[in-house]
Amino acid sequence: MSKSVSGFSKMSKSNKIDWIVATYFNHNEDAKHIIKQYWNTNIKLQQLHDEFIENTITNYYLPFGVAPNFLINDKMYAIPMAIEESSVVAAASKAAKFWLDRGGFKAEVLSTTKIGQVHFMFHGNFKTLYAFFKTVKPKLFEATQPITKNMEKRGGGIIDIELRDKSESMDGYFQLHATFETLDAMGANFINSCLEQFAKTFREEALNYDDFSEKEKNIEIIMSILSNYVPDCLVRAEVSCPVNDLTENPDINPEEFAKKFIQAVKIAEVEPFRAVTHNKGIMNGIDAVVLATGNDFRAVEAGVHAYASRNGRYSSLTHAKIENDIFYFWIEIPLALGTVGGLTSLHPLVKLALELLHNPSAKELMQVVAVAGLAQNFAALRSLTTTGIQEGHMKMHLMNILNQFEATNEEKKTLIDYFKTHTATHSAVVEAIHNLRSKK
Ligand code: MEV
Repeated sequence: MSKSVSGFSKMSKSNKIDWIVATYFNHNEDAKHIIKQYWNTNIKLQQLHDEFIENTITNYYLPFGVAPNFLINDKMYAIPMAIEESSVVAAASKAAKFWLDRGGFKAEVLSTTKIGQVHFMFHGNFKTLYAFFKTVKPKLFEATQPITKNMEKRGGGIIDIELRDKSESMDGYFQLHATFETLDAMGANFINSCLEQFAKTFREEALNYDDFSEKEKNIEIIMSILSNYVPDCLVRAEVSCPVNDLTENPDINPEEFAKKFIQAVKIAEVEPFRAVTHNKGIMNGIDAVVLATGNDFRAVEAGVHAYASRNGRYSSLTHAKIENDIFYFWIEIPLALGTVGGLTSLHPLVKLALELLHNPSAKELMQVVAVAGLAQNFAALRSLTTTGIQEGHMKMHLMNILNQFEATNEEKKTLIDYFKTHTATHSAVVEAIHNLRSKK
């Protein structure tokens, strides 16, 4: 049977599944069962999810967990997290509790500007292009009025449009580089609509600009698109406490712990191989909240990693120091987030997640997300520089291994108790399951 198909998107959901199962699963009914067992019995809810994308055949579940006890700027939060990695929510919760007793997290939004660009080719005199840009700039604002008027009423809109000469990097390449304030919206649709209108007006006006030669008049628009690199949409989150308060464990000397912790951060600042893993741990916390709140984690990932390389070498997103016997640990990251538009009012769980966060503004959500990243990094570095990561990791992963072996509830209870006092490695867990079962 041919594995290609035409008109797939127009088939009914059930015909799509039949085709998939026949073509790729050799008509195996088990595959159909797996696909269908994730359907929601609430038909309206299922239809809502079906319509988020094209060709939906089922739902893909991720655990939706909550990390309580986050004190951020003197306000308590229980942070919603959607993530599959066993230890992430546990680590966030532990870090939250730790800092709750030490004044909590302080966070501030440093800037909120977003960026979009019209990329175009122009072959001619730059001075004439610049003069044209000056005359056309007010028309670009005017032409986008229907798109911007509501945003402007609320205090946002287009901040500025610049002409940028990029012809040194690529022959004939120029940009309209625009900056935007999109308030509580992530703003992708708003920015892209503005940019496409800029491009249209810019090209049309160029055709009628008398100072251009015939060749110059023919500006070639390559594309108009927002940038997910938002170095001026920045948030900072911080924790601090006297060095002596840094550990609850009498076996750990707080000063030694602080020094080792700071060295671990410094290693991530200077060594890209470590920085990537260090930042991955931060993104464990960030993505989980971004996803739970219906935001675009791919955009956030792309922007954050670009920011981590802004000085020419990929580096840590967090920093730490001791000053006057006070330990400081902080993060500074760009985050383009929305709390209106997109999925925020459409996806019932996203709505619930935002409600759980006291229906935050985009700025408040930036703070919460940055804190989740910082907390996650604190928990990871604390484990890495003390017990090692595997102890906590394997404790959380234990349940996954037990489930792989289809352990009964009774077996789970026995083995969870056993591994409270024994080191859990994959092979040790497998051996313990076999031992337990052979005793029966
Ligand atoms: C695992 O998902 C994340 C860590 O590797 C982060 C780190 O090493 O800092 C534990």
